[in-house]
Amino acid sequence: MPKIVIAIDGYSSCGKSTTAKAVAARMGYGYIDTGAMYRAVSLYFIQERVLLTSHRDVMLALENIHIAFKHNPRTGKNETCLNGLNVEEEIRKMYISNIVSEVSAIPEVRWAMVAQQQKMGRRRGVVMDGRDIGTKVFPDAEVKVFMTADTYTRARRRQQELLAKGEMVNLEEIIRNLEKRDLIDTTRAESPLIQAPDAELLDTSYMTIEEQVEWVLELADRKL
Ligand code: C5P
Repeated sequence: MPKIVIAIDGYSSCGKSTTAKAVAARMGYGYIDTGAMYRAVSLYFIQERVLLTSHRDVMLALENIHIAFKHNPRTGKNETCLNGLNVEEEIRKMYISNIVSEVSAIPEVRWAMVAQQQKMGRRRGVVMDGRDIGTKVFPDAEVKVFMTADTYTRARRRQQELLAKGEMVNLEEIIRNLEKRDLIDTTRAESPLIQAPDAELLDTSYMTIEEQVEWVLELADRKL
Protein backbone atom coordinates (compact mmCIF):
# COMPACT_ATOMS: atom_id res chain seq x y z
CA MET A 1 0.00 0.00 0.00
CA PRO A 2 1.43 3.42 -0.87
CA LYS A 3 2.41 5.53 2.10
CA ILE A 4 0.93 8.96 2.57
CA VAL A 5 1.61 12.13 4.56
CA ILE A 6 -0.91 13.18 7.19
CA ALA A 7 -0.64 16.85 8.11
CA ILE A 8 -2.31 17.99 11.32
CA ASP A 9 -2.25 21.74 11.84
CA GLY A 10 -4.06 24.00 14.21
CA TYR A 11 -4.04 26.00 17.41
CA SER A 12 -2.07 25.00 20.51
CA SER A 13 -3.53 22.45 22.90
CA CYS A 14 -6.33 21.21 20.65
CA GLY A 15 -5.09 17.64 21.01
CA LYS A 16 -3.00 17.68 17.82
CA SER A 17 0.04 15.82 19.12
CA THR A 18 -1.87 13.23 21.16
CA THR A 19 -4.06 12.50 18.14
CA ALA A 20 -1.15 12.51 15.69
CA LYS A 21 0.88 10.14 17.87
CA ALA A 22 -2.01 7.67 18.18
CA VAL A 23 -2.81 7.84 14.45
CA ALA A 24 0.86 7.20 13.62
CA ALA A 25 0.96 4.20 15.98
CA ARG A 26 -2.23 2.71 14.51
CA MET A 27 -0.96 3.13 10.94
CA GLY A 28 2.61 2.03 11.65
CA TYR A 29 3.79 5.49 10.55
CA GLY A 30 6.43 7.81 11.98
CA TYR A 31 5.33 10.79 14.05
CA ILE A 32 7.02 14.18 13.90
CA ASP A 33 6.25 16.87 16.44
CA THR A 34 7.37 20.03 14.66
CA GLY A 35 6.42 22.23 17.63
CA ALA A 36 9.09 20.39 19.63
CA MET A 37 11.67 21.52 17.06
CA TYR A 38 10.74 25.20 17.50
CA ARG A 39 10.77 24.67 21.25
CA ALA A 40 14.27 23.15 21.10
CA VAL A 41 15.50 26.13 19.05
CA SER A 42 13.97 28.44 21.66
CA LEU A 43 15.76 26.59 24.46
CA TYR A 44 19.08 26.94 22.63
CA PHE A 45 18.45 30.65 22.01
CA ILE A 46 17.81 31.18 25.73
CA GLN A 47 20.83 29.13 26.81
CA GLU A 48 23.17 30.89 24.40
CA ARG A 49 21.58 34.32 24.89
CA VAL A 50 20.92 34.70 21.19
CA LEU A 51 19.69 38.15 20.28
CA LEU A 52 16.46 37.54 18.32
CA THR A 53 16.86 40.78 16.38
CA SER A 54 20.42 40.00 15.25
CA HIS A 55 20.53 38.23 11.88
CA ARG A 56 24.17 37.24 12.50
CA ASP A 57 23.43 35.79 15.95
CA VAL A 58 20.46 33.82 14.66
CA MET A 59 22.32 32.41 11.64
CA LEU A 60 25.30 31.40 13.75
CA ALA A 61 23.04 29.73 16.29
CA LEU A 62 21.15 27.81 13.60
CA GLU A 63 24.42 26.40 12.29
CA ASN A 64 25.11 24.98 15.74
CA ILE A 65 21.70 23.47 16.40
CA HIS A 66 21.15 19.80 15.75
CA ILE A 67 17.70 18.43 16.56
CA ALA A 68 16.82 14.74 16.51
CA PHE A 69 14.05 12.51 17.86
CA LYS A 70 15.41 9.47 19.69
CA HIS A 71 13.59 6.50 21.13
CA ASN A 72 13.78 6.41 24.91
CA PRO A 73 13.41 2.78 26.07
CA ARG A 74 12.51 4.02 29.59
CA THR A 75 9.40 5.91 28.47
CA GLY A 76 8.81 4.02 25.22
CA LYS A 77 8.52 7.38 23.44
CA ASN A 78 10.45 9.26 20.80
CA GLU A 79 11.96 12.22 22.61
CA THR A 80 13.48 15.49 21.47
CA CYS A 81 17.26 15.80 21.58
CA LEU A 82 19.13 19.06 21.16
CA ASN A 83 22.79 18.62 20.25
CA GLY A 84 22.74 15.08 21.66
CA LEU A 85 21.02 15.98 24.94
CA ASN A 86 17.50 14.88 25.80
CA VAL A 87 15.50 18.09 26.28
CA GLU A 88 12.01 16.59 26.08
CA GLU A 89 10.96 17.71 29.57
CA GLU A 90 12.65 21.10 29.51
CA ILE A 91 11.07 22.29 26.25
CA ARG A 92 7.52 21.70 27.55
CA LYS A 93 7.94 24.20 30.39
CA MET A 94 6.09 27.49 30.52
CA TYR A 95 9.17 29.68 30.08
CA ILE A 96 9.69 28.08 26.65
CA SER A 97 6.00 28.51 25.73
CA ASN A 98 6.42 32.18 26.55
CA ILE A 99 9.08 32.77 23.88
CA VAL A 100 8.55 30.04 21.27
CA SER A 101 6.15 31.99 19.05
CA GLU A 102 8.55 34.91 18.80
CA VAL A 103 11.40 32.56 17.90
CA SER A 104 9.32 30.66 15.35
CA ALA A 105 8.24 33.89 13.64
CA ILE A 106 11.86 34.53 12.57
CA PRO A 107 11.98 33.63 8.83
CA GLU A 108 15.50 32.12 9.00
CA VAL A 109 14.41 29.83 11.83
CA ARG A 110 11.40 28.68 9.82
CA TRP A 111 13.41 28.04 6.66
CA ALA A 112 15.87 25.86 8.58
CA MET A 113 13.13 23.87 10.35
CA VAL A 114 10.94 23.44 7.26
CA ALA A 115 13.93 22.06 5.29
CA GLN A 116 14.60 19.51 8.07
CA GLN A 117 10.94 18.54 8.30
CA GLN A 118 10.71 17.98 4.54
CA LYS A 119 13.77 15.74 4.77
CA MET A 120 12.27 13.79 7.68
CA GLY A 121 9.08 13.12 5.70
CA ARG A 122 10.57 12.58 2.25
CA ARG A 123 9.81 8.85 2.26
CA ARG A 124 6.23 9.64 3.32
CA GLY A 125 4.53 7.35 5.84
CA VAL A 126 4.50 10.13 8.46
CA VAL A 127 2.04 12.00 10.61
CA MET A 128 3.32 15.51 11.22
CA ASP A 129 1.71 18.07 13.47
CA GLY A 130 2.34 21.80 13.57
CA ARG A 131 1.11 25.09 12.19
CA ASP A 132 2.23 25.09 8.54
CA ILE A 133 2.48 21.43 7.57
CA GLY A 134 -0.41 21.42 5.10
CA THR A 135 0.41 24.87 3.73
CA LYS A 136 4.20 24.96 3.62
CA VAL A 137 6.04 21.79 4.66
CA PHE A 138 3.89 19.28 2.75
CA PRO A 139 1.38 21.22 0.61
CA ASP A 140 0.93 17.91 -1.26
CA ALA A 141 -0.02 15.95 1.88
CA GLU A 142 -2.75 13.46 1.06
CA VAL A 143 -4.57 14.12 4.34
CA LYS A 144 -4.85 17.57 5.88
CA VAL A 145 -6.59 18.31 9.13
CA PHE A 146 -7.03 21.71 10.73
CA MET A 147 -7.81 21.44 14.44
CA THR A 148 -9.48 23.98 16.61
CA ALA A 149 -11.22 24.09 20.01
CA ASP A 150 -12.51 26.82 22.28
CA THR A 151 -9.89 28.67 24.29
CA TYR A 152 -11.18 27.59 27.70
CA THR A 153 -11.08 23.90 26.75
CA ARG A 154 -7.58 24.29 25.34
CA ALA A 155 -6.37 26.09 28.46
CA ARG A 156 -7.81 23.41 30.77
CA ARG A 157 -6.10 20.68 28.72
CA ARG A 158 -2.78 22.55 28.82
CA GLN A 159 -3.11 23.06 32.57
CA GLN A 160 -3.67 19.33 33.08
CA GLU A 161 -0.63 18.49 30.93
CA LEU A 162 1.58 20.86 32.91
CA LEU A 163 0.20 19.60 36.22
CA ALA A 164 0.96 16.01 35.21
CA LYS A 165 4.56 17.12 34.84
CA GLY A 166 4.58 18.87 38.20
CA GLU A 167 4.25 22.45 36.94
CA MET A 168 1.37 24.39 38.46
CA VAL A 169 0.25 27.35 36.34
CA ASN A 170 -3.00 29.26 36.81
CA LEU A 171 -5.63 29.21 34.09
CA GLU A 172 -5.46 32.96 33.40
CA GLU A 173 -1.73 32.77 32.66
CA ILE A 174 -2.29 29.84 30.32
CA ILE A 175 -5.14 31.63 28.51
CA ARG A 176 -2.94 34.73 28.10
CA ASN A 177 -0.13 32.57 26.69
CA LEU A 178 -2.45 30.71 24.27
CA GLU A 179 -4.00 33.95 23.02
CA LYS A 180 -0.60 35.59 22.58
CA ARG A 181 0.74 32.57 20.67
CA ASP A 182 -2.41 32.38 18.50
CA LEU A 183 -2.00 36.05 17.60
CA ILE A 184 1.71 35.76 16.71
CA ASP A 185 1.22 32.43 14.90
CA THR A 186 -1.67 33.69 12.77
CA THR A 187 -0.26 37.11 11.90
CA ARG A 188 3.44 36.44 11.23
CA ALA A 189 4.65 37.20 7.72
CA GLU A 190 6.36 33.85 7.10
CA SER A 191 3.93 30.91 6.75
CA PRO A 192 1.30 32.02 9.26
CA LEU A 193 -1.12 29.57 10.79
CA ILE A 194 -4.08 29.33 8.42
CA GLN A 195 -6.36 26.54 7.33
CA ALA A 196 -5.22 25.16 3.98
CA PRO A 197 -8.11 25.37 1.47
CA ASP A 198 -8.06 21.58 1.13
CA ALA A 199 -7.82 20.85 4.88
CA GLU A 200 -10.74 19.35 6.81
CA LEU A 201 -11.76 21.34 9.88
CA LEU A 202 -11.99 19.43 13.16
CA ASP A 203 -13.36 21.17 16.25
CA THR A 204 -12.25 19.04 19.19
CA SER A 205 -14.01 21.05 21.95
CA TYR A 206 -16.44 18.25 22.69
CA MET A 207 -14.50 15.26 21.43
CA THR A 208 -12.50 12.63 23.27
CA ILE A 209 -9.02 11.73 22.04
CA GLU A 210 -10.38 8.35 20.83
CA GLU A 211 -13.02 10.13 18.74
CA GLN A 212 -10.39 12.44 17.25
CA VAL A 213 -8.15 9.49 16.37
CA GLU A 214 -11.02 7.60 14.72
CA TRP A 215 -12.02 10.72 12.78
CA VAL A 216 -8.50 11.15 11.32
CA LEU A 217 -8.14 7.41 10.64
CA GLU A 218 -11.43 7.39 8.70
CA LEU A 219 -10.28 10.38 6.68
CA ALA A 220 -6.96 8.67 5.95
CA ASP A 221 -8.78 5.49 4.98
CA ARG A 222 -10.69 7.35 2.29
CA LYS A 223 -7.41 8.63 0.79
CA LEU A 224 -5.61 5.28 0.74
O1 C5P B 1 2.85 22.57 18.99
P1 C5P B 1 3.44 23.43 20.07
O2 C5P B 1 2.41 24.15 20.90
O3 C5P B 1 4.44 22.71 20.91
O4 C5P B 1 4.25 24.55 19.27
C1 C5P B 1 4.92 25.57 19.94
C2 C5P B 1 5.00 26.79 19.05
O5 C5P B 1 5.87 26.54 17.96
C3 C5P B 1 3.71 27.29 18.44
O6 C5P B 1 2.98 28.16 19.28
C4 C5P B 1 4.22 28.03 17.20
O7 C5P B 1 4.61 29.33 17.55
C5 C5P B 1 5.45 27.25 16.83
N1 C5P B 1 5.25 26.33 15.71
C6 C5P B 1 5.31 26.84 14.42
N2 C5P B 1 5.23 26.00 13.36
C7 C5P B 1 5.07 24.69 13.54
C8 C5P B 1 4.98 24.15 14.84
C9 C5P B 1 5.06 25.00 15.90
O8 C5P B 1 5.44 28.05 14.25
N3 C5P B 1 5.02 23.89 12.46
